[in-house]
Amino acid sequence: MEKILEVKNLKKYYPVQKGIFSKTSDSVKAVDGVSFSVQSGKTLGLVGESGCGKSTLARAVLRLIEPDLGFIFFKNKDITKLSYKEMKNIRRNFQIIFQDPFGSLDPRFTVFAIISEGLINFSANTKKEVIYEKTVKAVEDVGLSKDILNRYPHEFSGGQRQRISIARALVFSPKLLILDEPVSSLDVSIQAQIINLLINLQKEKGLSYVFIAHDLSVVRHICDQVCVMKSGKIVERGETSQIFANPTNSYTQRLLNSIPQINLHSTS
Ligand SMILES: Nc1ncnc2c1ncn2[C@@H]1O[C@H](COP(=O)(O)OP(=O)(O)OP(=O)(O)O)[C@@H](O)[C@H]1O
Ligand SMILES: [Mg+2]
Repeated sequence: MEKILEVKNLKKYYPVQKGIFSKTSDSVKAVDGVSFSVQSGKTLGLVGESGCGKSTLARAVLRLIEPDLGFIFFKNKDITKLSYKEMKNIRRNFQIIFQDPFGSLDPRFTVFAIISEGLINFSANTKKEVIYEKTVKAVEDVGLSKDILNRYPHEFSGGQRQRISIARALVFSPKLLILDEPVSSLDVSIQAQIINLLINLQKEKGLSYVFIAHDLSVVRHICDQVCVMKSGKIVERGETSQIFANPTNSYTQRLLNSIPQINLHSTS
């Protein structure tokens, strides 16, 4: 099966000054030699406690921040050193969804402007009708009506806003979505709806996902494989069923023991 994404020995350290008068500086090893791959059409879970480096890894993989070391391959093409201009063409293939659907949608813009903005920036000479059609298709794909296009983000609930964020990513017809805790800020019943939406979109469009969570119960329903991350490193990895049935690392066992269960079948 084709690998859509492969990450090799990725590192990102943040410098920290020990004190105003200290000459030595230390560093936070946010991502410390991480390797993983994502198969086309599959979902890889990335799980770990707060501060273990998940968001840094997500951003470094998309080169929204520059990794210090390592390699990133997208469909076997090394994108680690591509220029900004070269990245622009490739970047539409992978999109990121953030945890906070309130902070990530600009309150000054209509839903139409938010979803179509990237498309317009990407190719300034795309016809207006084409942009409109693609925007309508994207909102309908996430289960919203085109009637919402003239409304503003504050008029919507958390779950609806997260649907709008997903539509904003889908408008590019991406191949891979990096979902950085996409349901953590939502009520449990709404979490299940968004997870079901993501599962359906994956089936329909053959999308690949990197699904980031600190909550293992969410991962269980959507991920084919799971990587468990601690202090910038992957400490355990495997098929989801295997990780749940037989966690070998004590840290993974701890994460498993502290989870509330969500029931995907009670809602949607
Ligand atoms: N811009 C930055 N400058 C310095 N240190 C940072 C920066 N961003 C993150 N860090 C540190 O890097 C480490 C990893 O942070 P990161 O946000 O990637 O973790 P996370 O796993 O996404 O956590 P959470 O579950 O809370 O979102 C943390 O110790 C954090 O304090
Ligand atoms: Mg994070």
